[in-house]
Amino acid sequence: MSLPIDPASPNAVSPLSAAGDRHFDGLADKFAASLYGGSRGELRLALLDRLLPEMLALHGQPLLDVGGGLGQLAAWFAARDHAVTLMEPSAEMLARARLALADAPVTFHQAPLQALPEVAPGPWPLIACHAVLEWLADPRAALATLADRLAPGGQLSLMVFNRDALRFSNVVKGNLEKALADRLEGKGLRRRLTPISPLTHAQVTAWSAECGLEIRGVAGIRIFHDYLRRPAESDADREALLALERRYCRVDPHWRLGRYLLYTLVRPESPPSADREPRP
Ligand SMILES: C[S@@+](CC[C@H](N)C(=O)[O-])C[C@H]1O[C@@H](n2cnc3c(N)ncnc32)[C@H](O)[C@@H]1O
Repeated sequence: MSLPIDPASPNAVSPLSAAGDRHFDGLADKFAASLYGGSRGELRLALLDRLLPEMLALHGQPLLDVGGGLGQLAAWFAARDHAVTLMEPSAEMLARARLALADAPVTFHQAPLQALPEVAPGPWPLIACHAVLEWLADPRAALATLADRLAPGGQLSLMVFNRDALRFSNVVKGNLEKALADRLEGKGLRRRLTPISPLTHAQVTAWSAECGLEIRGVAGIRIFHDYLRRPAESDADREALLALERRYCRVDPHWRLGRYLLYTLVRPESPPSADREPRP
């Protein structure tokens, strides 16, 4: 559970949770401004708007949004008639999500992903977990927990912060020693928004297989934006950048350096059986 906010210092960043995760109490303002308040957030939402219907089979099924943050993704699904349940451990983030979604029929739970089996066991036909695993001490166990709560045939929309892109952007920015030492992850202290567990595509591939999930799709989110020498300032430049991001976000090799990797992972209807006769 999230720790209470100190009333004497309402914006203090909470310590890491007992599990070693970075809940966002004390970070909501910074997160809202630095991600969703600028071109990065605009681009993310514009890309998701295009990619979610392409990558997921959507027919109004109930959605569980784990680590739902400020509620943007929940709002997108609620506007498309999905019954949405949002779980979020940070009281501060959850309060903002409740406000943003005041008119939407969303069920809220203040709880971390680890409490999923007790709080919202499902099984769910559709789960979203975007930009959360990289803030956890044990993202592999978290993926297994999500996989366990999927119904047969159920889909997991998973987005993770890409460790390989973090290396690339550190080099581009001149942080050569840091990149060489592979000291890429943050410590989760103070107001830093560098994730404590950035993930690689190789890890997601291996862990998905361990959990019995099939990767049905992958895309890179912000494959060009973060490497621009000059930010796109005019509307025409922003539109051209969005067109480029859309065109290449699922094209090899570009998706591999997206700042985030977006996956559709599916629990097969029937698990592969060890003693099934191989087909001729
Ligand atoms: C970068 S934000 C992403 C929010 C939202 N999913 C989005 O895409 O905008 C990470 C969120 O994960 C939450 N979080 C941290 N540890 C968590 C945990 N153990 N279980 C669920 N959510 C967690 C944080 O409180 C924060 O709201």
